[in-house]
Amino acid sequence: MTPFEATHRRPASKGVLTPSSPRCCMGTGLLLLLVFVAGLRVSHGTTDPTDAAALRSLMDAWKNTPPSWGQSDDPCGTPWEGVRCRNSRVTVMTLSTMGLKGTLSGDIAQLSELESLDLSYNNELRGQLTENIGNLKKLTTLSLAGCSFSGKIPDEIGDLEKLSFLALNSNKFTGTIPASLGTLSKLYWLDVADNQLTGPIPISNNGAPGLDQLLNTKHFHFNKNQLLGPIPEQLFSSNMTLIHILFHGNQLTGEIPASIGLVKSLQVLRLDRNFLKGSVPSNINSLTNINELNLANNQLSGPMPNLTGMNSLNHVDLSNNKFDSSESPAWFSQIESLTALVIQSGRLYGQVPEKLFSFPQIQEVILDDNKFNGTLAMGNSISQQLQIVSFKNNALDSVTLQPRYNMTLILAGNPVCNNQPSDTTYCSLQQKQSLPYSTSLANCGPKQCPPDQSLSPSKCNCAYPYEGVMFFVGPRIRDVTDSTLFQEMERTMSIKLGLEPGSVFLENPFFSGDSYLQLQVKLFPSDGRYFNRSEILRIGFDLSNQIYRPPESFGPYNFIASPYPFPDVEGRPSMSPGLITGISVGCALLVLGLVGAGVYALRQKKRAQRAMELSKPFASWTRSGEDSGGAPQLKGARWFSFDELKKSTDNFSETNQIGSGGYGKVSRGLLSSGQLVAIKRAQEGSKQGALEFKTEVELLSRVHHKNLVTLVGFCFEQEEQMLVYEFMPNGTLRESLSGLSRSGVLHDTTADREE
Ligand SMILES: *[C@@H]1O[C@H](CO)[C@@H](O)[C@H](O)[C@H]1NC(C)=O
Ligand SMILES: *[C@@H]1O[C@H](CO)[C@@H](O)[C@H](O)[C@H]1NC(C)=O
Ligand SMILES: *[C@@H]1O[C@H](CO)[C@@H](O)[C@H](O)[C@H]1NC(C)=O
Ligand SMILES: *[C@@H]1O[C@H](CO)[C@@H](O)[C@H](O)[C@H]1NC(C)=O
Ligand SMILES: *[C@@H]1O[C@H](CO)[C@@H](O)[C@H](O)[C@H]1NC(C)=O
Repeated sequence: MTPFEATHRRPASKGVLTPSSPRCCMGTGLLLLLVFVAGLRVSHGTTDPTDAAALRSLMDAWKNTPPSWGQSDDPCGTPWEGVRCRNSRVTVMTLSTMGLKGTLSGDIAQLSELESLDLSYNNELRGQLTENIGNLKKLTTLSLAGCSFSGKIPDEIGDLEKLSFLALNSNKFTGTIPASLGTLSKLYWLDVADNQLTGPIPISNNGAPGLDQLLNTKHFHFNKNQLLGPIPEQLFSSNMTLIHILFHGNQLTGEIPASIGLVKSLQVLRLDRNFLKGSVPSNINSLTNINELNLANNQLSGPMPNLTGMNSLNHVDLSNNKFDSSESPAWFSQIESLTALVIQSGRLYGQVPEKLFSFPQIQEVILDDNKFNGTLAMGNSISQQLQIVSFKNNALDSVTLQPRYNMTLILAGNPVCNNQPSDTTYCSLQQKQSLPYSTSLANCGPKQCPPDQSLSPSKCNCAYPYEGVMFFVGPRIRDVTDSTLFQEMERTMSIKLGLEPGSVFLENPFFSGDSYLQLQVKLFPSDGRYFNRSEILRIGFDLSNQIYRPPESFGPYNFIASPYPFPDVEGRPSMSPGLITGISVGCALLVLGLVGAGVYALRQKKRAQRAMELSKPFASWTRSGEDSGGAPQLKGARWFSFDELKKSTDNFSETNQIGSGGYGKVSRGLLSSGQLVAIKRAQEGSKQGALEFKTEVELLSRVHHKNLVTLVGFCFEQEEQMLVYEFMPNGTLRESLSGLSRSGVLHDTTADREE
C-alpha cells in the first residue's frame, strides 16, 4: 500500500495515524499525509458525537466501507454514503451490497435513534448478531438478508417494539426461533428462511410470548431450515392476518392443525417437503383466498383433500403423499382458476375430466405415477395456455388426440405405448419445448464484452451490472417462455428502481427442485460502466425490503445479490480536489509519482486478486481426485482443462458442432477415455459470474433424471465457461438442456433436497 492510498481511503480520525496506517517510507510522504488529514478535519460538527463515534467504531470493524466514510468527522453534515440523519441523529443506515467484511460491533447500540438498518447482501459480514441490537428501540426495519451471520438469533430482537420488517433470511443462524419475537406487535414481515434454525415453532405459554401473538404479521417465511416438531394448533387463529405461510423444507412432523383453516387471509400455503402425516383438515377449503397450495412430499394420508370452493387456486401440488386410492376428485372440474395441477403418486385411477384441460389459464397438468386407466380424452376445447400434460407411468390404454393440441403430451409408461412405434411423439420423453425467456439483445448486433462485463440491453454498451437471483417462492405461473409477463417485470422494475427504460436484463428462468421459479437479473447503470455506491445501496434496499413488487402472478420473492465490483474497492485512487489545491507544484509532482507507482502496484494487485476471485467460488469444492490434477472437484462433476476440451473437439471444429443457441455453441467431443460428450460453451454475453456458474454446476450435478442428460463436468478457465454432458445420440441436446427449466420434467428428479 502506498501512503497515498491509505490516506485516501481511511484518513485518521483524530489527527494521529491509526494502527492500520502504512509505514511511511518518505518524510515528504508523511508530511503530505498530515496536510491531507488536517484538511479533512475541518468539520461542521452537526452530528451527535455519540453517533459519530459509533459509526467510526463500526467503520473500524468493517472492510470496504464506502470511500466517503471517514472523509469527514461529520457523518450527517458531510454525509457518509448510506447514512441519513434527522436533527443531528443517525436514523437510517443502508449499506446493501457494499462488499462489507467483518462483524457487526455491539457499538451499533449507540445509534439509539436508528429507525432503519439494512446490511443485506454483504456475504462476508459474519459472526454473531450482537444482542445489543435490542437497544435500538426506534428500529422499524432490520434487513440482514444474504449475509453470513451465525449463532443464535438474539432474544433481544424481541425488544424492538416498533419493528415492522425483519429479514434475517439466507444467513447461517442456528438455534431456535426466539419466542420473544411474539411481542413484536407491529411486525408485518418475518423472514428467517434459509438458515439452519432448529427446534419447534414457539407459541405463547403461561405469559411467555409466542408467534401466535403476531396478529399483524402477514408473512411467516420459515422455509429451508431444520425446524422440528408439530405445527402447533395454537399457532393460528381467526384474528391472524397472514397471507404467506412458507414452512416448506423443514423437518416438521405431526398433523396439519385444523386451526390453519381459520386464517382466511391466506394466499400462499407451502407445507411441502416436511414429514407431516395424518389427514388434511377438512376445513382447508374454507381458505378461499389461497392461490398457491403446496403439500407435496410429506406423509399425508386419508382421503384426497377436498378443495371444492377454493376458487382462487392457481398452483396446486399434492404429490408424493399417501392419500387413499380414489378417482379424480370433483374439484378437478370445478376450480377454473387453476394454472397448474400437480399430483404425482397420488393413487388416482379412472378418468380425468375433460373440463380440466379447458380451464382458461391452465398451463400444466402433471399426474405421473398414478393409475389413470381407460382412455385419455382431453376434449375439444383445450385451453390455449396449456403447455404440458404428463401422465407418465399410468394405466392408460388409449388416447383420443385433438389434432389442434401441439404442445407436450407425455404418455410414456402407459399401456398405450406398448405397441406403438418408438417414435410416436407422445410416447417419447423428449419433446419439443420452447426456450425459456431471455431479454432480447437483438438490437445490439453481435457485440462482445469482456468476461466480467455484460451488454446493456438499452444502450448496447458493456457495463458492470448489478446482478442477482430472484427466487419466486410461490409463483402462480408455470410458463417460463411467457415474454409478456417477463417484459412487464422488466418495465415495472426499471421504473420502481429508478433505472432507465430497458436497463433490466432477465434470463434463465427455471423451476428449481423446491418449486421456486428462479430468475437471473442484471440491472444496468444509466451512465457509464458502473453504478456508484449510492445507487447500489438504494437498489439493494429496494429489493431486500420488498419495495419493488413484481407483477402479481409472480407471487412472493426473495432476491439475493452477487457482490458488486466497485472500481475503487481495491483502492484505485481518485484525487480529491481539496488535496490538490492545498499543495505546491513540487508536492503535486511527488504525489503524481507516488500515485503512478501506486496505480501500477494496485493494478497488479487487482489483477492477481481478480484471478483469485475467479477461482474462489470453487474453493469450497474439495481438492482431490487423481484425474483432475488437484483441480476443484464436485461430487459427480469433473473439472476439465480448456486444452483437454479443445483437443476433444478438434479445436471446436465446425464438423463437431451439434447445436447453437443464445448461450453459445454445443460441440461433440471425444475424451481421451473414449467417452463421447456434448460440450456447451458459453459465448460472450451469455457468460455468468463465477458464483452463478458455480451454482449452476452444483445444481446440474445434483440432478439425475432419466430424461435429462447427466453433467459430466465443467471447464472454467481462460475466460471460458463450459459444461460437459453425456452425449445423447437421440434427440437434440438443446431440448434436454431446456428441459431443466421445465418444472414438469423436474418433478420426479432424484435430486437431493436443496440444503
Ligand atoms: C380475536 O379478537 C377479538 C376482539 O379483538 C377477541 O375478543 C377474541 O378473543 C380474539 N380471538 C382469538 C381467538 O384470539
Ligand atoms: C367437498 O366440499 C364441498 C364444500 O364444502 C362439499 O359441498 C362437498 O360435498 C365435498 N365433497 C366431498 C366429496 O366430500
Ligand atoms: C379403471 O380401474 C378401476 C379400478 O381398478 C376399474 O374399476 C375400472 O373398471 C377401470 N376402468 C377402465 C375403463 O378400465
Ligand atoms: C401450435 O399450433 C398453433 C396453431 O394452432 C401455432 O400457432 C403454434 O405455433 C403451434 N406451436 C408449436 C410449438 O408448434
Ligand atoms: C450516483 O449516481 C447518480 C445517478 O447517476 C447521481 O445522481 C449521483 O449524484 C451519484 N452520486 C455520487 C455520490 O456520485
